[in-house]
Formats: sequence, structure tokens, C-alpha cells
Amino acid sequence: MSIAEAKTAATSDDLVFRAPEPEDGKAVWELIRSCGPLDDNSLYCNLLQCDHFADTCILAEKDGEVLGWISAYLPPAEEGVLFIWQVAVSEKARGMGLAGRMLDKLVARKVCRGVRRMKTTITPDNDASWALFRSFARRMEAPIEGEPHFEREAHFGGEHETEVMAEIGPFGALARKAA
Ligand SMILES: CC(C)(COP(=O)(O)OP(=O)(O)OC[C@H]1O[C@@H](n2cnc3c(N)ncnc32)[C@H](O)[C@@H]1OP(=O)(O)O)[C@@H](O)C(=O)NCCC(=O)NCCS
Repeated sequence: MSIAEAKTAATSDDLVFRAPEPEDGKAVWELIRSCGPLDDNSLYCNLLQCDHFADTCILAEKDGEVLGWISAYLPPAEEGVLFIWQVAVSEKARGMGLAGRMLDKLVARKVCRGVRRMKTTITPDNDASWALFRSFARRMEAPIEGEPHFEREAHFGGEHETEVMAEIGPFGALARKAA
């Protein structure tokens, strides 16, 4: 799917899934601020994601309200990898499959046609996030593995829990086709 197609909005039930535009940056920033334990970003960071990284980011909205958000990018030095930066779903919309649907729609985009693996970092205690990515791995018929990546002392100076790099892939051929 091209950005233009994504923007035309794949509608299912009354949710709209689409690539962001710079004008969405403020709403995305506010959603992330409301979704602990996510780190706050600067508003400028979210504006750049909605602008330069729009083709690998997705939002879900209902009646114009942003309820879900995923920021992601294709790391230049890692062919075939989609790196997921943040996933945020408004408390009132959780547990309804929204985050899973956003992941599925992202990997189905034309820009992700070469993607065979997904990476993300997750803190060990974030059960919801682990469940989300394990569930995605099952749908993609792919293994999931985790190794400490950004460590509490070495990288965060003791200020943040260790982030484990979760790697999902390679995606199963049939699952990839269906995406
Ligand atoms: C993590 C988060 C994005 C999940 O969003 P969601 O839309 O509620 O997730 P989904 O409904 O798509 O659920 C995906 C899977 O995770 C499971 N899951 C969701 N929340 C869970 C929880 N709190 N505990 C255990 N499992 C959970 C679901 O049962 C589902 O599993 P299944 O496909 O096997 O049935 C949401 O809880 C959130 O925004 N949390 C705060 C921010 C955060 O921690 N983000 C992730 C770090 S980047």
C-alpha cells in the first residue's frame, strides 16, 4: 500500500487506520503522554515521525480522536527489518485488538514489502507489550527471541529498566503473503 492509499484510510467498523500527517503530531504526543510507561517525547520528535516517517507509522482514530499509534522505521543498516519504536493505545480502547491490527496493517504496506523481521525493545515487566508481540509472532508463523540491548547501568545510568531487544522472524512465507 502506498502512503496515498494508506491515507485514504482502510476503514473497518468505525475505526480508521491511516498514515499520520504533520497535523496529527500534537494528538499523537498527547496520546503518548497519557500512556505510561512510555517515555514522553518532545512534540518536535512526534512531528518528525508524522512527517518524515509517515509511511512507516500508523494511527487509529474514531470520530477524529486518535486512539492508537505506532511509530516505526526501516533501519538503514538492517535490510528487511521493521523497527517498532513505540506502541500506544488509549486506555479506553485497550484489549480490543487495536494494537495487533495496527501491526498487521503496517507490515502489509507496500513500503514494507521487503520486511522479513520485526524488532522492538521491551522492558521485562511489560506484560501487555510482550503479549502483543508474541501474538504477532504467532500470526506471522515466526519465532520470537529476546536479548538485553539497552542496559540499566551501561546505557541508562541506572535511571531506566533494561530494554530487551525482541526479534520476530523470519516471517513464515504463507503468513507474509497473507499480510
Ligand atoms: C501494549 C498496548 C499497546 C496493547 O494494546 P491493545 O490494543 O490493548 O493490545 P491488543 O488488544 O491488540 O492485544 C494484543 C495481545 O496482547 C494481549 N494483551 C493485551 N493487553 C494485555 C495485558 N495487559 N496483559 C496480558 N496480555 C495482554 C491480548 O490478549 C492480545 O493477545 P492475543 O492476540 O493472544 O489475544 C497497550 O496496553 C498500551 O498502550 N500500553 C501502554 C503503552 C505501552 O506499554 N506500549 C508498549 C511498549 S512500546
